[in-house]
Amino acid sequence: MTTSIIHQDWPEPIVRVQSLSDSGLCHIPDRYVKPPSDRPLDIPRAAAFSDSSANIPLIDFGGLSSGDEGKRAEVTRQVSDACRDWGFFQVVNHGVSPELMDRAREVWREFFHLPMELKQDYANSPKTYEGYGSRLGVEKGAVLDWSDYYFLHYLPSSLKDCRKWPSVPDSCWEVIDEYGKQVVGLAGRIMRILSINLGLCEESLQEAFGGDDIGACLRVNFYPRCPQPDLTLGLSSHSDPGGMTLLLPDSNVPGLQVRRGDDWITVKPAPHAFIINIGDQIQVLSNATYKSVEHRVIVNSSNERVSLAFFYNPRSDIPIAPMEELISPGSPALYTPMTFDEYRRFIRLRGPKGKSQVESLQSSR
Ligand code: OGA
Ligand code: NI
Repeated sequence: MTTSIIHQDWPEPIVRVQSLSDSGLCHIPDRYVKPPSDRPLDIPRAAAFSDSSANIPLIDFGGLSSGDEGKRAEVTRQVSDACRDWGFFQVVNHGVSPELMDRAREVWREFFHLPMELKQDYANSPKTYEGYGSRLGVEKGAVLDWSDYYFLHYLPSSLKDCRKWPSVPDSCWEVIDEYGKQVVGLAGRIMRILSINLGLCEESLQEAFGGDDIGACLRVNFYPRCPQPDLTLGLSSHSDPGGMTLLLPDSNVPGLQVRRGDDWITVKPAPHAFIINIGDQIQVLSNATYKSVEHRVIVNSSNERVSLAFFYNPRSDIPIAPMEELISPGSPALYTPMTFDEYRRFIRLRGPKGKSQVESLQSSR
């Protein structure tokens, strides 16, 4: 058995995509080849950001701390428009330290460049997904994505288990911990804006998430170079199952694509921006005023890509349903209640599958 193959309750031996990429093969194995309808049409050749075409809205949160009511109202309105129109936006001057963002990304890049034997100590299993992983979903024979990842919990604190965090590189715990604290702070600020935009009290959405008992976890995605990027995806099309995602993208390498009608828009991040998107749980709580939008990741042959996806989720054991304030005889509840624990089981069994799951919750009216 080579060091890149382990079992641990997965349906098949796990192959690290990074090992495949490093082996220098010219053709990707069949199980990474997507059906033609799912393949990306146009891979940026130089794997660099082009400035042509559309981009998701860019919002400057600087206006929120200016003390100027007009500016605050303008930022709040921009968030409202972005949530309704795109389900995605990027934000700058958001209060998270830019140096910390850079350090966090670099610490994780270093982790992925450690020798494989060291990384294997953190190999994850489908029981909790914590640790170093190379697939979502446990369906035997599934077509896989061209990426590895690391998954860990921050909240609730009962699930935060630093023994499952990497202990190398040095000082990574502090960076990972502080990053989590600051990003939770930003998520809380955005939750208040969303509440106001939905016509609710500032704390309503947070309370609907379970107050202080919300969940927060991180998935660090590592997309190795790929010799045939036009045949595969780094991450298949999906909507995020949780509440809201705060993504720190790679600053140099494009990859994230957001669905816009029949098109896929390649996101061009602003320096030190976070990319924010609405997850399925906010779609349900807002009774579809805000919708989670499908997205996917393309890979390329010249550069690896690292991204940090921070998921801000409702407490996992309370039923999530459209908020009472948002339903009326003219606007009935569109979804049947489900706890997030139950909801998350689907993606963990079946892997990323577009928006099929939130659609399955639609009440038959
Ligand atoms: C995710 C995700 C996008 C990216 O982890 O859910 O959509 O750019 N990541 O890595
Ligand atoms: Ni996602």
